[in-house]
Amino acid sequence: MTEKILILDFGSQYTQLIARCIRELNVYCEIQPCTKPIQWEDSIKGIILSGSPFSVNDPQAPVVDIKAMGDRVPVLGVCYGAQLMAKVFGGDVAKSAHREYGRASLEHNDKEEPLFYDISLTSQVWMSHADTITRLPEAFLPIAHTENIPVAAFKSHTLSKHPLLGIQFHAEVTHSLEGKQILRNFLVHICGIHQEWTPAAFVQETVSRIKAQVGDKKVVMALSGGVDSTVAAELIHKAIGGNLYCVFVDNGLLRKNEFETVLDSYKHMGLNVKGVNAKDLFYGQLSGVKDPEEKRKIIGRLFIEVFQQESAELKDIAFLGQGTIYPDVIESVSVNGPSATIKSHHNVGGLPEKMKMGLVEPLRFLFKDEVRRVGKEIGISDIFLARHPFPGPGLAIRILGDITPEKVTMLQEADAVWIDNLKESGLYNQVWQAGTILLPVQSVGVMGDERTYEFTVALRAVTSTDGMTADWAHLPYEFLAKVSNDIINKVKGINRVVYDISSKPPATIEWE
Ligand code: XMP
Repeated sequence: MTEKILILDFGSQYTQLIARCIRELNVYCEIQPCTKPIQWEDSIKGIILSGSPFSVNDPQAPVVDIKAMGDRVPVLGVCYGAQLMAKVFGGDVAKSAHREYGRASLEHNDKEEPLFYDISLTSQVWMSHADTITRLPEAFLPIAHTENIPVAAFKSHTLSKHPLLGIQFHAEVTHSLEGKQILRNFLVHICGIHQEWTPAAFVQETVSRIKAQVGDKKVVMALSGGVDSTVAAELIHKAIGGNLYCVFVDNGLLRKNEFETVLDSYKHMGLNVKGVNAKDLFYGQLSGVKDPEEKRKIIGRLFIEVFQQESAELKDIAFLGQGTIYPDVIESVSVNGPSATIKSHHNVGGLPEKMKMGLVEPLRFLFKDEVRRVGKEIGISDIFLARHPFPGPGLAIRILGDITPEKVTMLQEADAVWIDNLKESGLYNQVWQAGTILLPVQSVGVMGDERTYEFTVALRAVTSTDGMTADWAHLPYEFLAKVSNDIINKVKGINRVVYDISSKPPATIEWE
C-alpha cells in the first residue's frame, strides 16, 4: 500500500506546486477538489488544505469539515487553508492592514516544534494574501511570526485526535527558501510518513497493477514517438509482454526520417509495433484546407479512423493503453464558484469514448518530469526522454495555409537542418521546443546570377517550463547566421530565413 497525502484544492494557482514539492520528497500525493467528499482509506496519512482566490469571509467561500479530517489524520492549512482553520474554530480573519505579499522573514517561537526542525531561526518565506488572521481561537498556539504577522504559523493538539497546523505563507514556492523542509517536517515528523515513493517503487507497483488489471487479455495502444506514450507503452510491455499491440501511424506530417527512426527504436525496445503508412490518406483529405482548426479536426478524425481499423484487425482487444498524464486529468476548482469543473483530455482525442474498451493509463498520476524519471528508471533511451515536444497535428500546423506533399518535404528538410544544428552546437537541450514554419509568401532573391522567387521559413526556438508561457530563445547571432546559410544553400525552394522573436503571451509557440 502506497502511503499518500491528500491535497484539497480550494482553487489556488499554487496547488500543483504543493503536489510537486511533496512528490520531490518521494511521497505520493493526490490533488482533489475541496468540494468532493473524501473517500477515506488507510493509505491517507495526512491532508493539506491549499490556498484559494476566495476570502474565507466571502459568502461563496468553500468550507470543509476540518474537525472530521483531524480526527483521522494530521491536517496542514496553507494560506486560505490556515485562515479557514482559524475561522471555523471561532477565530477572526479580516483584510490585512499591512502589505502581505512577497518575501517575509519568518521567526519560529519554539525550537522544539517539529514543523520547524532544521529550519533556521529566521527563514525567508513567501506571502501572498489579502486577508490575515486577526484573532486566533484559544485552542491554537502561535508557533511562528513575521514582522507584520503575529500568527504566521499555529497549531492545535486539542481540537481533534490528530494535530491541526496552519501556515499563512506559501511553503511550496521556491521563494520560501526552507519551505520544502517545512513540508517535509509535516510529512515525516507529524504525519509519520516514509519517503519511499521513488521511480523504482512506482515502476514495481505500476507493473503489478497492470498485470492485475489486464490479466491475459490484450491491450492496443497508439504510439506517437513522444515521451509519454513511449514510457506508458514500456510499462505496459513490462507487465504483459507480447499482449501489448502498438500502432505507430505515419500521417506524413512527422519530421524528416522520424517515422523510420522511431519505429526502429520501438522495435529495438522489443515492442510489438506495427508501422502504418497513411500518408496519402492524410494528404488527400488535407488538400486545399487552409484553416488551422479544420486541419486539426481532419487529422484527429483520420487518426481515429486508421487506429480503429488497425485495432479491429487485431481482434479480441480488451483494453486501450494511453499515455495520459496528471496535469491532463487533475480536476480543477473553478475560481468563479466552488463547484468543481472537470478538465478532461485524451492524448489521442476521442478514442476511449468511441472504442468502448477498458483503459490502461500507467502515467495518469505523474507529472511530466516524473514521467522522464520513470523512463530513465526503465532504461528508455534519451532519443525519447530528451526530445522536444512535438504537436499531434505535426507539420500541418507549421505550414501556414494549404498543405502539399512538396511543402511538407521542403519544411522537413529545413527543420532537419535547424534541429541538427541545435544538436551539433549543444544548444538543443537549452531550448524547450524548436521548429520551423513555412510561410505562405514568396519573395525575391538572387542566387548566383539568377533571380529567385521562393518561400520564406521562420525559425522558432523557445525556452519554457511547461509551454503555458514561453520566451524566444536568445541564441547567438553566429549560430543563427550559420543555420540561415545552411537552409538557403541546402533546401530547394527557400531563399529567406527569419527568426521569430515573439514571446508567449501574447504570441503562441506554434503559428497556427
Ligand atoms: P501553443 O502554440 O499553444 O503551444 O503556444 C503550446 C504547446 O502545445 C503544442 N500544441 C499542440 N499539441 N496538438 C498537440 O498535440 C495541437 O493541436 C497542438 N497545438 C499546439 C505546441 O507544440 C506547444 O508544445
